[in-house]
Formats: sequence, structure tokens, C-alpha cells
Amino acid sequence: ISILSHWCDGKLEILAEDEVNNEDAESILGKLGVLEFDLESYNVDWMKKYKGKSEIVLRPKSVQEVSEVLKYCNSENLAVCPQGGNTGLVGGGVSVFDEIIIQLGRMNEIRSFDEQSGVAVCDAGVILENLDNFVGERGYMCPLDLGAKGTCQIGGNISTNAGGLRLLRYGSLHGTVLGLEVVLADGTVLNNLSMLRKDNTGLDLKQLFIGAEGSLGIVTGVSILTPKKPNSVNVALLAVPNYEFVLENFKLAKSHLGEILSAFEFFDSKSLQLVLKHLNQLRNPLPNTEDSKFYVLLETHGSNFEHDQEKIEMFLEAAMEKEFCSNGSLAQGEGQVRDIWAIREGIPEACGKEGAVYKYDISLPLKSLYSLCEVVEKKLINDKIYLPNDFENSLVKQVLGYGHVGDGNIHLNISAKQYDSRVLNSIEPFVYEFTKKNQGSISAEHGLGVMKGKFISYSKSDEMITVMKNIKNLLDPNGIMNPYKFLV
Ligand code: FAD
Ligand code: MLT
Ligand code: ZN
Repeated sequence: ISILSHWCDGKLEILAEDEVNNEDAESILGKLGVLEFDLESYNVDWMKKYKGKSEIVLRPKSVQEVSEVLKYCNSENLAVCPQGGNTGLVGGGVSVFDEIIIQLGRMNEIRSFDEQSGVAVCDAGVILENLDNFVGERGYMCPLDLGAKGTCQIGGNISTNAGGLRLLRYGSLHGTVLGLEVVLADGTVLNNLSMLRKDNTGLDLKQLFIGAEGSLGIVTGVSILTPKKPNSVNVALLAVPNYEFVLENFKLAKSHLGEILSAFEFFDSKSLQLVLKHLNQLRNPLPNTEDSKFYVLLETHGSNFEHDQEKIEMFLEAAMEKEFCSNGSLAQGEGQVRDIWAIREGIPEACGKEGAVYKYDISLPLKSLYSLCEVVEKKLINDKIYLPNDFENSLVKQVLGYGHVGDGNIHLNISAKQYDSRVLNSIEPFVYEFTKKNQGSISAEHGLGVMKGKFISYSKSDEMITVMKNIKNLLDPNGIMNPYKFLV
């Protein structure tokens, strides 16, 4: 309260003692960006699966405000939950109980952009698409792209170490983030907004916060290297008879298109059917391919359109000749490029429209990537949770898979009529046991959050977890930063 009262001339102190009327409260809270009314959207995640009970949302405007808030919360042992665009898929961005939400949306300035190096420095609350548009107007692009770009924030992307659609080409944020400004739990500001590609002076502290999911501090500023926008973009969609041929196409694409390949995504036909069912504006560019169990979307980013198109056509010819695909379509023009991407990027939304969704974001060796979906489907059938021929009595509606083949990352989605412990008990910990047995990771790109915090040992050894806990204790000894999730 003392910190807040410092901002508003002592009025908030009175407010806490309930001595002002609602009108005053509304105006004071409004000025501070403290929203007391209608907190629903801050308390529910994108999937409507995780619900918090926060009664206070703070929306700071500067790093100093973040620092003062954390200093105060730390001294009073008040737990906080950092929140960006609230598009996370593991319940990390909403409170578990009544943690104070610190939402970064008002810190949305682009601080600088260097047109020589392509380094952008911005506030953590800048929406990814806005950053991409800003650098796009200057001939650059964000190294990261994902379906939630219109809502997620760069600070949220960094805090989840989001992978996205082009990691295959432009690498992970561990490589493209050059510096961070972070506020620690006690209010200390770590200013490391370096714009240097190379900086080997001591430990690279920023790496700790990339993927920390708000457990170590609040990211307030970001320095990120953006690549040049390509002169030529090509996108093809292939209908593929089986998973083995998805991998054959990947191998073939790497040998034909290696230096220009920018994305290699796949989805099963069930995913496509859901998109066509729920997102009415989209059409299948490859009609009459119902026999194909899979679809591959591949993209090239290059510097010479004719050269790239010739190469991609040669790849398509080779794939058809070897019968690795039954049909293929090369997008003609920007509109078709967008339409094909819209199918792939629309899958999460379409799944959400089907009902409750259980999402598993798993890394596995490529050879066993899709088998995850098959074994889980079989398990659900054996447990009589999924009755494919008895829709009325089946708890599960669909089991489907899609994802980033190029990164060895599958998204297993199980849609159900509603969230139900019988479904959950059939899937977990089975899915994590399968992942561990096959040398995978239980969190490829979405993080652990409240969903997977307790399963961390399926992917990390006791020794590693101990070191993580020691780091957490060092930076956040009172445990106020995003508690009840992982490293609890
Ligand atoms: P939030 O959801 O608000 O928060 C996510 C986590 O980061 C929370 O733990 C939160 O506490 C923490 N956090 C947020 N901001 C800060 C900050 N400034 N400082 C410290 N901690 C913070 N993920 C991928 O990896 N690849 C994809 O392709 C992808 N596609 C998606 C498509 C859709 C349609 C949706 C809904 C989600 C997708 N995601 C994807 C998941 C999600 O991780 C990303 O959308 C994004 O990185 C989350 O950013 P956000 O700003 O919404 O963060
Ligand atoms: C994706 O690749 O589409 C995202 O990670 C979101 C999801 O898994 O649904
Ligand atoms: Zn993904």
C-alpha cells in the first residue's frame, strides 16, 4: 500500500481502509491502471481451461513502476503472476489462487531500431504482430511467428521461449534475443539490453529468463535481432499418404531446398477436417485427397523468385515421382500463401470450437513423432473413453496431431465434450511416460505452467531440478514470482 500511496498522494491508502466511495475508487484505480472491475479476461486463459481468482490487476507503464510494485510485493510476501497477451497454453499466465496479476500491455513502445544491424529494442508488452509490422516497414521481419501473433506479446514469447512456425530457419529465441531488461522479485532492475551479437563477458544471464515463465522476474525490455525480409516467398501444400512419407518429404525438401527452406509443418487429415468444419471462410486447396492421412506445408524464403520457384517445382516433381505425395499445390500469389497458412494456423482455434481440448506439446525423435497420437488414441479406446462408433456415449470426440516436423515437435490434441477427470486420468501420466521412454521432452515450446509443473521430472533429472530450485531461491527467496506452477 505504501508504494501505491506514493503514486497517488496517499489516496490509495485511504482506499485500502475502505473510506472512499466507489466513484473515487474507480477514478484512482483507473489512473493507476489497476482494474478492479471486470477481471474475467485476466482470470481465464485462452482455452478457458484455467481460471484464477485474482482481485487485483496492475498494468504498469514503466520499468520503474514494475520495480516499485515488485519491491513492495516482495516485502509484504504478496504473490504475483506476470501476464502478457494471455495466449499461453499451459495455464502459466493466470493466477492459481488470488495472486496479483501484473499485465504488461501498457508497456508497448518500440524504443529503437537499427536499420544496419536489424536490432530492435522494445518494451516487453509490444504485441508480436505490431513489432513485426514495425520492422517489416523497414525491410526486416521478426524471427518468430505464430498463430497468436495478433495478441501475444514479445515479453510473453520470451518468457515461454516460444518456438513458432519458422524456428527451423531462424532459430530459437535463445539465439535471436541479444539482451533483456528484467525486474527481479526484490525490485532490482537488471539492465542488459545489449545490442551486440557477441558478448562473452561472464555468464549470459539473459538466458535464464528465456523460458522461465515468469518464475524468476518480470521481463520489461527486449533487444532482438531481426532478419531481412525475404524477396521471395513460396508455399506449397502436399497431400501425403502416410507418416513415413511425411518424413521422406522432409528429407527430400532438405536436399532440394536446404538453404531456402523456412518452414516444414504437418497436420493429419482430422485436423484439416476440423478447420474446414469450423472456419467457414477456408477451402481445401487439394480437394479429393481424402485418402491422404497427412498434409505437409512447406515454405521457402529466398532472394530470387524464379530461382526459388524452379527449385520448389523440381522438389514437387521428385516428390510426386517417388509417390511421396498424392497431390500438391504451389501457392500462386500472396493471397494463396495466406490461405494455406491460415489452414495450418487455424487448427488450434478450430480444435477449441469443437469443445474442451487437452493439448500436449511434445518433442520426440522424428521416427516416433506421430506414433504418440496413435498410442494415445488406442489407450483412450481401450479405456472406453473414446468410442469412435458411438458418438453419443463417447467422452472424447477427436484425437488429432499437427506440428513442427522440422523441429521434431508434435501437438497432440484430444477434444472432448467437456473437461472430465476420466479423460485426464486416461491420458496422464501415460503420455509423459511414453515421451520419457522415447527420449522426448514433455514441453517442446509451450512451457510447463500449472499444467505440467508437477511432471518436470519426466524430462529433467533430479540434479538439474535441484540446480533450477537453487537459482529460483537465489533470485526469488520469498517465492512470490508466479508460484504454484513449476519449481514449487
Ligand atoms: P502469456 O500467455 O500472457 O504468458 C505466458 C507465460 O509467460 C506465463 O507464465 C506468464 O507468467 C509469463 N509472462 C508473460 N509475460 C511476461 C513478462 N513480461 N515477464 C515475465 N513473464 C511473463 N507457442 C509456441 O511456442 N509456438 C506456436 O506456434 C504457438 N502458437 C500458438 C497459437 C495460438 C493460436 C495460441 C493461442 C497460442 C500459441 N502458442 C504458441 C502458445 C503461447 O506460448 C504463445 O502464444 C506466446 O508465447 C505467449 O505469449 P503471451 O504474451 O500471450 O504470454
Ligand atoms: C501451434 O503450433 O499451432 C501452436 O503451438 C498452438 C497449438 O499447439 O495448438
Ligand atoms: Zn506449435
